[in-house]
Amino acid sequence: MLVLGIETSCDETSAAIVSSQREILSNILISQIKEHNLYGGVVPEVGARAHLEVLETIISQALQQANINLDALDGIAVTAGPGLIGGVFVGITMAKAIAAAKKLPFLAVNHLAGHALTVRLAEPLDFPYLLLLVSGGHSQLVLVKSALEYVLLGTTLDDAVGEAFDKVAKILGLPYPGGPSIEGLATLGNPKRFKLPRPLLYHKDASLKCSFSFSGLKTAVRQEIAQLASFQDDDQRDMAASFQAAVLDILVNRSRNALEFCLKQKISLNAFVISGGVGANQALRKALQEVSQILGIKFIAPPPNLCTDNAAMIAWAGIEKLQLNAVDSLDFVPRPRWPLESIKGEK
Ligand code: KG4
Ligand code: ZN
Repeated sequence: MLVLGIETSCDETSAAIVSSQREILSNILISQIKEHNLYGGVVPEVGARAHLEVLETIISQALQQANINLDALDGIAVTAGPGLIGGVFVGITMAKAIAAAKKLPFLAVNHLAGHALTVRLAEPLDFPYLLLLVSGGHSQLVLVKSALEYVLLGTTLDDAVGEAFDKVAKILGLPYPGGPSIEGLATLGNPKRFKLPRPLLYHKDASLKCSFSFSGLKTAVRQEIAQLASFQDDDQRDMAASFQAAVLDILVNRSRNALEFCLKQKISLNAFVISGGVGANQALRKALQEVSQILGIKFIAPPPNLCTDNAAMIAWAGIEKLQLNAVDSLDFVPRPRWPLESIKGEK
């Protein structure tokens, strides 16, 4: 089975051809970083226009690189939400047009399901598994029971972790996206210099054991920087390292709680998996590997280029839907909000 995947929900325009045998025949991606960097973050209007300008070319390139034409396809998968609605509209309209013209199954993919299932594109893995989904828009611990069934164990009460990376980078005068800039600098800085909070870690409310909060951490960074007499390169490096250390402590602690919860509930997890853009962070991958090892659970981190937004993961999630006969109708309305846990029972 061959499926074309289209991703336009944020600041990456991407098209990919993926087979049900886990082969990525092509995965073309154009980042809008340059356009958005002028504004220090993603501007939805600018994004939608940029998707529109390049999508057709990118789809042609994806087909060309895979050495096929549209007739060889078995389905069209597209991110139908959640995300910036202008961009999602661009992608879904194109996908519907191709599906209608070629009479192909149309697969409306939840972007978060794309991240959640990426690992099964990277390697064979059975359900259930625990997922730490950490991206620019989401921070969640999710029990993945099937391609259509997700149980949310915890989410963020305020900012997403990728958003915190991006905002802190902006405070430190680093370019967007903040994650890679901070990760690069953090290796050169002193993680112990600034005493930053670890929100929720010592909270008494047991129902918040798998929840996240990053807005206080971001504010603490701003305050520490404001107190400095001047802001030098070593301050920038040390703050990047201190911030990343705080984020790692939070993510490791919350992950451990979620893993222990699953163990207590006798859920036989096949793995603990990370995905989403922040999952590309090497220091985080190493820290999660260590905690998984302590708890005796296999840890899997898909290749970094599959963790950040890309259309191969959308094509793969489409293949999983197609295999379950969960095809969507052409009047599917794009969804700016679409929680993973609401997918169950939709079909
Ligand atoms: O999954 P993604 O590509 O897009 C969304 O669906 O949001 O995630 C983008 C986020 C951005 O906030 C970016 O700063 C962050 O992922 N990110 C990283 C790294 N690479 C990307 N955060 C930390 N370390 C990285 N190496
Ligand atoms: Zn994403």
